[in-house]
Amino acid sequence: QDTDRDSLFSLNDFARKFYVNTLFETEEGKAIGLSYFLERGFREDIIRKFQLGFSPTAWDTFTKTALQNGYSEKYLVDSGLTISKDGKHYDRFRERVMFPIHNLTGKVIGFGGRILTSDKTKPKYVNSPESEVYNKSKSLYGIWLARNSIVARDNCFLVEGYTDVISLHQSGIENVVASSGTSLTTDQIRLISKFTRNITILYDGDPAGIKASFRGIDMILEQGMNVKVVLFPDGEDPDSYARKHSSSDLEGFISNNSDDFIAFKTRLLLDETQNDPVKKARLIHEIIHTISLIPDPIIRPLFIRECAEIMQIAEQTLMNELNKLLRKKK
Ligand code: UTP
Ligand code: MN
Ligand code: MN
Ligand code: MN
Ligand code: MN
Repeated sequence: QDTDRDSLFSLNDFARKFYVNTLFETEEGKAIGLSYFLERGFREDIIRKFQLGFSPTAWDTFTKTALQNGYSEKYLVDSGLTISKDGKHYDRFRERVMFPIHNLTGKVIGFGGRILTSDKTKPKYVNSPESEVYNKSKSLYGIWLARNSIVARDNCFLVEGYTDVISLHQSGIENVVASSGTSLTTDQIRLISKFTRNITILYDGDPAGIKASFRGIDMILEQGMNVKVVLFPDGEDPDSYARKHSSSDLEGFISNNSDDFIAFKTRLLLDETQNDPVKKARLIHEIIHTISLIPDPIIRPLFIRECAEIMQIAEQTLMNELNKLLRKKK
C-alpha cells in the first residue's frame, strides 16, 4: 500500500539527516567519521553532495531518536534501520560511515555502512535489507546524480563500489553508477537503457570477479547495448586510481584502456587455452554463443572478424559456427 511506502521514504529521509548531522555536528562523528572521509581524500562538497553520514557507536541512539520523533517501531524494523531481537531493539548501523542509496528521483531507499577499522571478523560493508522501497536488483547506486550526465555523454560507466562512484564525481566524471557488489541484473540494465545504449564497465584490478561477470554481460549484449570494459591495474579500483592521479590522467587511462567486451573476453579466455585444441574449441563455442546474442545482424559479422583475428582462425569457420547456432535458435 502507498502509505507504507510513504512512511518508509519519510523514515529513511529522517535517518539520512540524522546520520549527516551526526557526521558534521557531533564530537564522535567529526573525530571518527568526518576524519575518515577527509583522510580518504573526499572533499566536503562531495561528502555533502552524496549525503554521507556517520552512525553513532552506541547500541540504539538512532532507534531511540526516531521513536522520540514519532516514527513507529513497525517502519523502523521494516526499513531494516532497527533490528528487533528477543524483545529488544538496536541499530543495524553502528560506528560506520554511511552511504545513503537513492532511487532515480533522489529519495533514500536504503543505506550502506562501511566499517572504519580493518577488523576482518566483521563485514566491510553492512547494507539495508530489501524493503517495500528497496529492491536491490532494480537499484543502481548513484543513478539519481548520474542520469543527466549519462544522457549528455551517451555512455554509462559501471563500477563495483560506492566509493568508486563518489571518487569519479570528485574527478569530474558524473555518468557513473555502481552495482554494489552484486552481479548485474536485467532490471538494472533496463534502467540504464532509459538513458543510453552504451555501457563501459570499470573493473577493480582483482581478476577474481571478472570471469564471474561474463554471464551478466551476455545479458547486456542481448538487450542490444554496446559494452566496453576497462581493467584497472593490479590492486587498484577506480577510486584508488583517481586518488593517485589527476582528472585528466584518469580520463586518459579510461579512454586508452577501453576495450570492446567481446575482444576482451576472447583475449582473456585465449590466454588460458595455452594451445590446447580442446580448450580452444570450447573457447570458440563460448565466443560464438556470446556473439549470437547480439540482436543486430549487421554488427555480428564485425565481431566475427575481430575475434577471428585475435584467435588466428579463419573468419569463415566462425561464421559457419555462428550460422549453425542461429539456425538452432529459430
Ligand atoms: P569492494 O570490496 O571493492 O569495496 O566492494 P570498495 O567499494 O572498493 O570499498 P573501499 O574502497 O574498500 O571502501 C565493492 C562493493 O561491494 C559491496 C559494496 O557495495 C562495495 O562498495 N560490498 C563489499 C558489500 O556490500 N559488502 C562487503 O562486505 C563488501
Ligand atoms: Mn572489488
Ligand atoms: Mn575501493
Ligand atoms: Mn573496490
Ligand atoms: Mn547463455
